[in-house]
Amino acid sequence: EPIDVTPAPVSSPMQERLVTAGFIALWYAVNVAFNLTNKSLFKHFPYPWTVSTVHVLVGTIYCALAYVLGAKSASFGRPITKKEFGMIFAPASMHALGHIAANLSFAAVAISLTHTVKTLEPVFSASLQWLLMGQATPLPVLLSLVPIIGGVGMAVCGDLTFNLMGFSGAMISNLTFGLRAVLSKKTMGALKDLSSTSLYAYTTLISLLVCAPLALIVEGPTLVSGAQAAIESIGARNFYLYLVAVGMFYHLYNQFAFNTLARVNPVSHGVCNVVKRIIIIGTSVLFFGNILTRQTIVGTAIALAGTALYTELQNKNKAKSK
Ligand code: 3PG
Repeated sequence: EPIDVTPAPVSSPMQERLVTAGFIALWYAVNVAFNLTNKSLFKHFPYPWTVSTVHVLVGTIYCALAYVLGAKSASFGRPITKKEFGMIFAPASMHALGHIAANLSFAAVAISLTHTVKTLEPVFSASLQWLLMGQATPLPVLLSLVPIIGGVGMAVCGDLTFNLMGFSGAMISNLTFGLRAVLSKKTMGALKDLSSTSLYAYTTLISLLVCAPLALIVEGPTLVSGAQAAIESIGARNFYLYLVAVGMFYHLYNQFAFNTLARVNPVSHGVCNVVKRIIIIGTSVLFFGNILTRQTIVGTAIALAGTALYTELQNKNKAKSK
């Protein structure tokens, strides 16, 4: 009787799905923790350039410690060449600038407004893909962007905390994250042997190099007095605890988002990201008690429905082109 020598599969499709669901759940949970802690910190310490830098500084220290302690697969993985550094630099610098822009917005307005404006991210990615890579989006897909844009516009105009800094910060973040998406496709394709965790570790290190000098220039002169005021209001221990906690949350949620991206297609990842924003808008309203006007609620709902439609059409389109 022949002996079956096929090795047992490492994991079944069911197990794979469970792992993906686990990453998504962790991504959402840590993202909620990040958004609520981050906004609470801004209420006492309105220094978005510095706080953005602290996020990536804590992440870099965490990765360096993990690497030194031998947990290479949980951090940088392997050393990279100069050329590889250059390849990661392009999307990583967009990641850093988009991060600062989002934080300028978070500090300026209700975080629900920032996340509503950030539902426009697929619109930016689609337009940039078309402009930079010549990948045209079919007309029905383009039309589905209309309710997204209209809904966001309506929601933003009805928001009680609206101001220009909050709105433009979120828009600049959309633009730079759209560029990040286009640029990282190339990088991810070329650096296949680097895990998603390692790629994010290097992205964090590069973000630190981008953010730190900018924060020093913009906020350096008033940083000490700002930190003193924050310490007076919440105490030194809480202040430092907040900075470390928010940095860890930021690093981990992004790492889980990167791990998810490595396991699902970009369109599904986009959907997960929008679901994440719905959860955040809901929890932030409950946590901070900010009031959403009826116009903002209806506008947000239209934008979210538009996103669902856009995703559906994108998926159909992808299936057809395959
Ligand atoms: C950021 O600072 O990068 C923000 O948290 C927004 O990004 P998001 O797309 O991860 O929500």
